[in-house]
Amino acid sequence: MELENVSQMRRDQLFEKLKVHGQEHLVRFWNELSETQRSALADQIERIDFPRIAHLFADRDKASEVVELVDRAGEPAAMRLGDQKNRFSPESAIGRGADALTGGRVAVLLVAGGQGTRLGFEHPKGMFPIGPVSKCSIFQIHVEKVVAAARRYGAPVPLYIMVSPATDLETRKFFAENENFGLPETDFRIFCQGTMPAIDDQTGKILLADRGQIALSPDGHGGALAALQAGGALAEMAERGIEQVFYFQVDNPLVDVCSPEFLGYHLLAGSELTSQVVAKQDPKDRVGNVVEVDGRLRVIEYSDLPDSVAERRRADGSLQIWAGSIAVHVFDLAFLLRMSGRADALPFHVAHKRVPFIDEQGRTHQPEKANAYKFERFIFDLLPAAKNALVVEVDPKTHFAPLKNAPGAASDTPESVRAQMVALHADWLRRAGAELAGGAPVEISPLFALDAEQLRGRIAPGTRISQPVYFRP
Ligand code: UTP
Repeated sequence: MELENVSQMRRDQLFEKLKVHGQEHLVRFWNELSETQRSALADQIERIDFPRIAHLFADRDKASEVVELVDRAGEPAAMRLGDQKNRFSPESAIGRGADALTGGRVAVLLVAGGQGTRLGFEHPKGMFPIGPVSKCSIFQIHVEKVVAAARRYGAPVPLYIMVSPATDLETRKFFAENENFGLPETDFRIFCQGTMPAIDDQTGKILLADRGQIALSPDGHGGALAALQAGGALAEMAERGIEQVFYFQVDNPLVDVCSPEFLGYHLLAGSELTSQVVAKQDPKDRVGNVVEVDGRLRVIEYSDLPDSVAERRRADGSLQIWAGSIAVHVFDLAFLLRMSGRADALPFHVAHKRVPFIDEQGRTHQPEKANAYKFERFIFDLLPAAKNALVVEVDPKTHFAPLKNAPGAASDTPESVRAQMVALHADWLRRAGAELAGGAPVEISPLFALDAEQLRGRIAPGTRISQPVYFRP
C-alpha cells in the first residue's frame, strides 16, 4: 500500500476515535503535515485519556472537596529542627538519619519539570546561574550536595531528576556536558514526567498549539508518582535497597539535601511521609497549609483557605493554621510503591490560565486573559494516605529561598535568593572564626562544606575576608 494511503487510513482511525469524544478537530490540519509531524501528532493523541478530560471539564466548577474539610482543620503534629523539646532528641534523630545514609538506603528525587514561566529564563530553571560569587547553576549546587553526602556517609546516594518535555533535552545535555557534576552514572537517572492537554474554557475542546501539535503541559510535580513507576525507577530503587526517598524542588538552593536530622525524625516516628514546613508570617502567605483533619495530615492550598479560617489565632495570638509547606519531603519507598498501584492516588487540580493556541483557520492567538484550563497533580496530596505522617519545622532564613520571579520583582527573585545564600554562608564563616569585612559576598561549595560544623575544621580562625570569595576544594 502506498504511504499516502496508509497515512489516510491512520487519519481516519484517529478521526473516528476522536469523534466519540468531540475532539476530531485535532486532525483538522492532517493533510498539511509531513509524515514525521503526523506520527508525532498521532503519538500525542494516543497518550490522551479522553474520558478523564471530559470528566475534568464537567467538574471544572465543582468546589474542591477540601473546602468542606476546612472547618475541621487543626494543627499538625510537628517537630522543630534542632529543638530539644521534640518527641525525639535532635541527637538521636541525627544518629538514625546518618545510619540510613551510611547503609545506602536513601535516594534523592529532584523535580525539575516545571516551565518556570514566572522567572522568564529561557532554559530549564535548574540551569539558572544562581551562585552569588561562582555564578554556578542551581543544578550544580544541588548535585554537589548529593555528591558530598555520599562522601560524608561513605555510601552511594542515587539521584533521580524528573524533567518534562519542556526541560528534558536541555537538562540532559547540560548534565552530559558537565559530567553529571561528579555523580557516577550508576547513581544518576533523568526521567520524564507525563503531560496533560490544555482545554478551551468554554467548549472543553483540546487546544492545538500548532497544526500538528497539541497544547500540552507537564502534569504537575505529582506526576512524579506515575513517572517513577512507569520508567521503572521505583523498582530499581527497591532492587538496590533504597528505603527512603528525599524529595525536593529545583527552585530552592537552600535545601539541606539528605539532612540526617530530618530523615531521622521520619524514621523514629515510623512516618511514611514527612514534610518540612515553615511558620507562616502572615495568614495570607501564599503557601500550601499543612493541617490535620480527622487525624490525617493534608495540604490546603492558600486559594482554598477562607480568610476567616486563615486568621484564626491561638490564645497567645499566634496563627492556628501556621505550617506552610516548602515542598521538601521524605517518602518511604514502600509507601510510594503502594500508592503507585492506585490509578487515582492523586487528584487533578484545575488552573485557569492563558494558553496560546491556533484556531480553525490555523491563526495563532496569544490570549490576554485566561482562556483555558490546565490540569496538574500535586505530590503533597499523598499526605492523607500516609501512616504517621509528620511535619518538621525549619527556619525559612536558612532553608527556604525559592526562585520564582524575574529580577526586579517584589519577592522570590535571583537577588533575594542570592542574598539569603550569602547570609547563610557568612554566618557559617563567622561561626568558624572568620572575620568578614565590608559586606563582600561569600559562597561555599557543598563540596567544601555542607554545614557550619564541617566548615569549622576547614577555615583557620581569624581568617579575614574582605573580597568576594567562593570556597571550593
Ligand atoms: P512551580 O509550580 O512553582 O512551577 O513548581 P515553576 O515551573 O517553577 O514556575 P512557574 O509557576 O511556571 O512560574 C514547583 C516545582 O515543581 C516542579 C518545578 O520544576 C519546581 O521545581 N514541577 C512543577 C515539576 O517538576 N513538574 C510540573 O509539572 C510542575
